[in-house]
Amino acid sequence: MNIMNDNFSKWGWTENPFVLRIDPSLFVGYENQVKAALNHIENKHKIALITGRTGAGKTTFLKWVEKNYDASKFYVSKPPQKPEEFVSLFTELFGTSFFERLLGQKPTLYSLPKYVNKKLGNRHLVFLLDEIHETNKEVLEWLRVLIDQIDNISLVIAGMPVVDEKLSELQTLNQRITTRINLVSLDKSETKELIKKRIESVGGKGIAPFTDDTISTIYEKTGGFPREILKLCDRLVNSALEKGLDVITLKDIEEHKEIELPKVRVEEPKVTFMPKPPSDEQIRNLPFKQRKILKLLSEKDWLTPTTIVEEMDTGSYKSKGHAIRSVNNILRRLMLDGYVQRESRGKAFMYALTPKVRTMFVEN
Ligand SMILES: Nc1ncnc2c1ncn2[C@@H]1O[C@H](COP(=O)(O)OP(=O)(O)OP(=O)(O)O)[C@@H](O)[C@H]1O
Ligand SMILES: [Mg+2]
Repeated sequence: MNIMNDNFSKWGWTENPFVLRIDPSLFVGYENQVKAALNHIENKHKIALITGRTGAGKTTFLKWVEKNYDASKFYVSKPPQKPEEFVSLFTELFGTSFFERLLGQKPTLYSLPKYVNKKLGNRHLVFLLDEIHETNKEVLEWLRVLIDQIDNISLVIAGMPVVDEKLSELQTLNQRITTRINLVSLDKSETKELIKKRIESVGGKGIAPFTDDTISTIYEKTGGFPREILKLCDRLVNSALEKGLDVITLKDIEEHKEIELPKVRVEEPKVTFMPKPPSDEQIRNLPFKQRKILKLLSEKDWLTPTTIVEEMDTGSYKSKGHAIRSVNNILRRLMLDGYVQRESRGKAFMYALTPKVRTMFVEN
């Protein structure tokens, strides 16, 4: 549970709307890109490629298509690492009939197109495949072969810009891509729309506690990059809560100057949180567990909450789950107070001391 849930209610919110949740109903903007994707699908074109940096909104975009396009859709969050895995992907989607099971007839990679064609009949299938940059040439080559031989399929693949290099080495596939969509960033009014939609989804009204001015500044600082917008808004509402503010002003954003977000053009890793450093005395007065965690982080940088729990004496907790939740809460607290910083690496968050706090530990 979020330690500050109660306080969000002062804005009429049931929860923090700026968590990095993927919810296609909160999708905004990218109008031309949406049109291009729908046009591709409606015309039953074969392969579309969506590229965008991390956090640009590729997964959200695919999920939006999945939800809003009225036909058979199949979203796969990661491509297989071996071509053979395509077989189980499709047999799980369609299921196997009693006779097929009786006769032990599971399709092979070679008979897969025939199997899919039969299962689809006249239906059109939209196959949405995310994180395509994570697979290898062999899988991509087979994907091309399958798509070529399945009659009624439109493939939409999404990945990071590096995928362009991979594809340029695979001309057979590359040349079949008829729609190329690039997700860059939202414009100013879409940025406002994103914030407003999120706030209203948790019961808030309009853009409060933000103002048009603060939203313009948020747009400038984040370059309209969706994940960065969410991260900055999260930080601003949390520090407004800490300070008991009802409205977030330009001055409040200014206070975060020293923790300017990484420029949008910079690739990972990103430092998401680095507020004002605390004093020596403040560190000494911290509760035992908080000091213990800081000590661990001073010995080793970038730990996940789970690793921290494993390094601690957790006898006082009911279970490891309890311990992890508690450590998560403490880390969040320490982050808000400027002791630690956080980076997202893949699916996990990793924590380290902020540079200033690190030097204090070295001196001690
Ligand atoms: N068009 C959009 N409208 C509203 N919110 C968006 C939009 N695009 C992205 N977001 C939000 O921004 C965050 C990042 O988006 P998403 O995870 O889709 O990015 P991604 O390009 O798939 O990133 P990665 O490459 O790291 O997987 C999510 O929390 C998502 O809800
Ligand atoms: Mg994604």
